[in-house]
Formats: sequence, C-alpha cells, structure tokens
Amino acid sequence: MRHFLTLSDFSKEELLEMVELARKIKTQTKKREFVPYMEHQTLGMIFEKSSTRTRVSFETGIYQLGGIGLFLSSNDIQLGRGEPMKDTDRVISRMVDMVMIRTFKQSDIEEFAEYSKVPVINGLTDDFHPVQLMTDYLTMIEFAKDKDPIVAYVGDGNNMTHSWLMLAAKLGFELRVATPKGYECDEEIVTQALDMAKSSGAKLSFGNDPKEAVAGADVVTTDTWVSMGQEDEKKQRLEDFSGYIIDSTMMSNAKDDAIFLHCLPAYRGLEVSEDVFEAHSEVIFTEAENRLHMQKGIMVWLDSKRND
Ligand code: CP
Ligand code: NVA
Repeated sequence: MRHFLTLSDFSKEELLEMVELARKIKTQTKKREFVPYMEHQTLGMIFEKSSTRTRVSFETGIYQLGGIGLFLSSNDIQLGRGEPMKDTDRVISRMVDMVMIRTFKQSDIEEFAEYSKVPVINGLTDDFHPVQLMTDYLTMIEFAKDKDPIVAYVGDGNNMTHSWLMLAAKLGFELRVATPKGYECDEEIVTQALDMAKSSGAKLSFGNDPKEAVAGADVVTTDTWVSMGQEDEKKQRLEDFSGYIIDSTMMSNAKDDAIFLHCLPAYRGLEVSEDVFEAHSEVIFTEAENRLHMQKGIMVWLDSKRND
C-alpha cells in the first residue's frame, strides 16, 4: 500500500504513470464516459484548513469514479475538540477506503499514514501541496510550448515552492526560485531537492531577484504572500514582498509565449496584477479544473497498488 504525502516518495516513472492515468481519465470524462475505477469506495476528506478547489475536486472526483466522498471538517468532528489525530485515523481508516487530509504539520499527516489501514493523500500541509503540483505539471504539458520548460517561481518560499522543488528535482527540469530575503525555502527541503537533482539533471537556482528568475522563462508562477495560518503576519509580509508582484512589466522578461500559473486563490494587486491574471485566465482556470482530473489519476493509481 502506498500513501501520497510528498512527491519525493515516488520515482519519476511513478509520477509520470499517474499523469498518464489522469490524462486518460480526463479524455474519458470529457466524452462523458462513466469511469467506475473506484466503484462503491469511500474517500474520507479531513479538512483542518479552508478549501474550495481541493474539496470540490476530490468530492466530485471520487463520485465520478463511482464512489462517494465524506467531507469531514475539523470544526465538526471530535478532532477539533482534541481527539488525537492517530485515534481519529484508526477509526476513520477502518471505515473508508482512502483518506485525504488538509492540515498544518507535515509530521501530523505522516503520523496519520503510519496508523492508517488505507492510502492517505496530502491535500496540503504547511510544508507541501503535492496534488497541486502534479496538477500544475499536467497543465504545463498541456499548454507550455517547450517540452523542457524553464519555470520561474516568484514569491514566498512556502508549501507551493517546496513542492515545485520536489517536482523539478524528480522530473529534471529547470526551476528558478526568487524570494524576498527572510522568506527563503526551508533549508532541509532545499538540501533534499538539490540532492535529488543530482540524479535527475534538474537545474535548481535560488535568489532574491524576481526579474533575473523570470528572464527567458517558459512558465512563470507565484502564490499568495500570506498562506493559511499566517494571517497575523499579513501587514509585515505585504511590506516585505513589495517588488514581487507579477505584472506585465515582470512578465515582459519571460518568453513571449510564456504561460502564467497560479494555484489559486489569487490576490490581485498583491502577488499578481489584474491584467496578467486575466490575460492568462484560460490557463489558470484549466489548472483549477485539472485538480479534478489529476487527483482521479492519483486515487486510481494508489488504489491499484493496494493489491500489489
Ligand atoms: N489551490 C488550492 O488548493 O485551493 P483550495 O485552497 O481552494 O483548495
Ligand atoms: N500557500 C497557500 C496555498 C493555498 C492553496 C496556503 O498554504 O495557504
């Protein structure tokens, strides 16, 4: 049995298998074919943080695969009143077939997986957002012209950046990260990514100059400057991130046909300007839709490993 906690747990071949499955299921879904790969299965979805895309895509996804999703907000279950994660897990994983969790600490999801009788999927932690990055990769291969794209990430060294690092390091593409001083990526995660990059040939670079990162890029991406749980730091962060907005001047440094990705929710006038956002909205909202397709690929892949 396999869990989906971080991209570094998988080989390049395994990640590409999931993407291929997602592409196949996306084509079938677009043709309105019923794809009951997980008929009568239940997906437990535990949310300790807010969500629009993750909730709707997982719940719709499992339904389209012939199963059912259970939305379990920590406000409504005993977890929110102090029942330990490992007890919640040992109860829920005896009743459902797969679990998706959105929580704070990566160590919590790891502990959950250790006790779980069923595959566990990371729906975002403070450290990683792996299902989003698989989706971004699917979107990138659908839209980016270059088969070996240069990706520039401008903004906070957060869960999205860490997962971009894992993806690039595994698949072997070039990723340039520009963060303000004091908002760099976690050092341990950077070391792990650089280590993985040695065998994949990925080129990873880090700096504090967004213009330099974006120069000649095929894909430009960013994320909110204030992640969930950082609301108290908002005022300081908005000051510290000044100059990091992706506006048309910044985009003009990228290739002429560069695409812009954003995992959403986006804050216009902060990390991205209204005009750049709207100019790239077809890609951005396909990226959002691809959450549905990519996660179906991941769930079906995990399900197929259960009998190995
Ligand atoms: N991108 C993303 O995970 O969105 P939600 O927070 O709405 O789930
Ligand atoms: N970095 C953001 C991603 C939201 C999808 C957060 O953790 O809030």
